[in-house]
Amino acid sequence: MPLLMVENLKAGYGKLQILHGVSLNINKGEILSVIGPNGSGKSTLLKSIFGLTTIFDGKISFKGEDITRKKPHEKARMGIAYLPQTDNLFTKLKVKENMLLAGYTLSESEYQERLKEALEFLPQVKEFWERKVWTLSGGERQMVSIAMAVLRKPELYMLDEPTAALAPKIARTILEKIVQLRDTFGAAIILVEQNAKAALKISDNTLLLVAGKSVFQGSSSELLQNKELAQMYLGVK
Ligand SMILES: Nc1ncnc2c1ncn2[C@@H]1O[C@H](COP(=O)(O)OP(=O)(O)OP(=O)(O)O)[C@@H](O)[C@H]1O
Ligand SMILES: [Mg+2]
Repeated sequence: MPLLMVENLKAGYGKLQILHGVSLNINKGEILSVIGPNGSGKSTLLKSIFGLTTIFDGKISFKGEDITRKKPHEKARMGIAYLPQTDNLFTKLKVKENMLLAGYTLSESEYQERLKEALEFLPQVKEFWERKVWTLSGGERQMVSIAMAVLRKPELYMLDEPTAALAPKIARTILEKIVQLRDTFGAAIILVEQNAKAALKISDNTLLLVAGKSVFQGSSSELLQNKELAQMYLGVK
C-alpha cells in the first residue's frame, strides 16, 4: 500500500476548478518530483493534499486512511509536513523562537531530543540560532524551514519550490539535504521544482502537470528518455 494515494483529484478555489483529475502514489523512502509550467497547478496540488483548497471530487488516502476532508492541523498531526512556496517563518522572531513554535505540541524532554536530532541533521542552523529570521538569506531560511519540519518527524514532506531564487550553489546544498531526508529518515518527499532537470536528477518518480492535468507519471529516468516531453518541458535538445 502506498504511503499517500491521490485518486482523480478535482480541486480549486471557491468555484474555480484548477485540478482536473490528478492521481499520484508515493511510497515511503521515495522522492516524487512535480514539475510543469507556471500556473499548471503544482502549488494547488500540494495545498489540496494538505486541505487548503476546495475539493470537488476524488480521494486522498494516507497510510490507508481516507484524509480527503481532514483539516490541515489533523493532517500535520498524522505526519504530513507542508512547506509552502512563500515564507512560512515568523520573520520578526529569532530562529530559536521559530523552532520552539514548531515544537509547541511536544513535551520539554521530547522537544530537546528532537531538537538535537534536527540540529544534527542541519548543523548550519546553529550558526544563526540567535538571529532574527528577517536577517537571514533565502538559503538560510530554507534550512530553518526544513529543520522545523524535521522536528516534527513527518513521514511525508511536501516542499514547494525550496530552491526558488537561490544561487546555484546553495540550491544544490538544499537539494542534497532533501535527498538526505529520504535516506536518513526514510521519509517520502513530494518536491515541486521550477528547475525540472535538477528535480529529475534526484527524484525516483516524476509527475508532469500541464493545465491541471497529469501529462506524465512514471520514473524520472523514463521521462528524460521521452524525447517529445523532454524537449517540450525540460528544455532538452
Ligand atoms: N488563491 C487562489 N485563488 C484563485 N486562484 C488561484 C489561487 N491560487 C492560485 N490560483 C490559480 O490557480 C492556477 C494554478 O496556480 P498554482 O499556483 O497552483 O500554479 P503553479 O504550477 O504552482 O505555478 P508556479 O510555477 O508559478 O508556482 C493559476 O491559474 C492561479 O492563478
Ligand atoms: Mg507554485
